[in-house]
Amino acid sequence: MTGGLRIAIDGPAAAGKSTIAKLVAKKLGYTYIDTGAMYRAITYKVLQNFIDPRNEEEIAKLVGNTVIELQPGGNAQKVLLDGIEVTEAIRSHEVTSQVSAIAALTSVRQLLMKKQQNLAADSSVVMDGRDIGTSVLPDAELKIFMTASVEERAQRRLLEEQLRGITNDYETLKREITERDKADSEREISPLKKAEDAIIIDTTGKTIEEVTDRIVEYAEKRLTK
Ligand code: C5P
Repeated sequence: MTGGLRIAIDGPAAAGKSTIAKLVAKKLGYTYIDTGAMYRAITYKVLQNFIDPRNEEEIAKLVGNTVIELQPGGNAQKVLLDGIEVTEAIRSHEVTSQVSAIAALTSVRQLLMKKQQNLAADSSVVMDGRDIGTSVLPDAELKIFMTASVEERAQRRLLEEQLRGITNDYETLKREITERDKADSEREISPLKKAEDAIIIDTTGKTIEEVTDRIVEYAEKRLTK
């Protein structure tokens, strides 16, 4: 650490974690790390290579030969998979529907967790995911557990997808989000769970600015302690 903090932001799907984590990082001048993008990139590669998502041996081999880079850029963080940009491709419906199964595999988690810990080793970071406060950075100086009602999360995702030109319907999104949360919470290794020392922020009915400012305030308090 270089005098700054490590901020862990965990929570269920579509709670606003990445939007807010990115803004908090920008305000504090920290590095933003989207760990979900890493699991998505691996999932994309598994699908591209027509590997059965249950074939852990093949997937472990593949993960060992994969380079994932997160590059800061404008509003979006660019994701490179083996040197090729996959920023948009990893948000596809196909990837979203398979990612929880791939993320439940021990070999995948072990490797990505090491990568994530290395990224946070010598810089001040805002890292968002499911297990950051519990497993990846258990000593993070500030931990947030961000939630929102499933209705609001589905509604937000619907708008987000519409802006990206994707047609979907509210009920399908609501069901998919619920299923993904269930899979992520019930897996054996580092499931989605609030760390004991995390601060809960329910973003239902709150604006992006409100939540961002609140986290920045917590961070500033921690820094002056
Ligand atoms: O954050 P995002 O929705 O992009 O994450 C996609 C998926 O990646 C999650 O549903 C979860 O299965 C997995 N994930 C994880 N641990 C993290 C981040 C994401 O298992 N730290």
